[in-house]
Amino acid sequence: MQRLGRSWQRAGARVGLVPTMGCLHDAHLSLVRRARRAVGPRGRVVVSIYVNPTQFAPGEDFARYPRDLARDCGLCRAAGVDVIFAPSDRQMYARGADGDFSTFVSEESLARGMEGAARPTHFRGVTTVVAKLFHLVQPEVAIFGAKDYQQAAIIKRMVRDLNFPVKIIVAPIRRERDGLAMSSRNRYLTGDLRRQAVVLWQALQRARAAVRPPGKTIPAARLKAALRRFIARTPAARLDYMEFFDPATLTPVAKVRRGVHLALAVFVGGTRLIDNTRL
Ligand code: PAF
Repeated sequence: MQRLGRSWQRAGARVGLVPTMGCLHDAHLSLVRRARRAVGPRGRVVVSIYVNPTQFAPGEDFARYPRDLARDCGLCRAAGVDVIFAPSDRQMYARGADGDFSTFVSEESLARGMEGAARPTHFRGVTTVVAKLFHLVQPEVAIFGAKDYQQAAIIKRMVRDLNFPVKIIVAPIRRERDGLAMSSRNRYLTGDLRRQAVVLWQALQRARAAVRPPGKTIPAARLKAALRRFIARTPAARLDYMEFFDPATLTPVAKVRRGVHLALAVFVGGTRLIDNTRL
């Protein structure tokens, strides 16, 4: 992959990367279209498909994370992807003669709260694998989805701090008709759980409505308590965290007004879902 990336670069082709963990759905395909727009018809679009073990903690869903490479390849082909990069764990995390893989990239400020607090080793795995993908593919642009808002902010920071010559584009969240954000993990939502999962979207909508009147501010603690009560009315839902924060710095805010960002993680049955919105 690296040889190919370098040869494209030498030939002056623009290269766009869409990093994914596979089990592709419409939201991924919208990232592919965004990549194509960015690099143009003569550019190269690479989709990486790799369920990265280092971003899962023991006890999380790494082993059962949905994988369907044959289907993913068909979708990529139909979407005009030039190369699918689907490395194995051995290729990504080599165990050489001199021991185990032992170099990691970690962002140490934006990664502290929210997902970082709930999943302490998660972002170190993400930044490490994304740094590796950038070195391997050598893209000029990389496209990430806004559903992982904190992840996108951390990757932008990593790119800035470590001088990666990569432009990061963050594409809007894609939603199902009832508002549920598209995610590979939605596959886990069987039966009535799928219906109950809409509670994340409904909570975001409630927060938006609460600060819709111009100039309205509400103490974050009060709005959190109201949303917590609302989420608790859905039998299968268990709130993991909810945070109101400044969208540029990710710093939590004490007063909620329009323009503040809200992110939340909720277990619906055994499935952990995340979502966010600008209020
Ligand atoms: O957002 C994801 O799917 C993953 O975190 C990523 C960016 C592909 C890294 O494994």
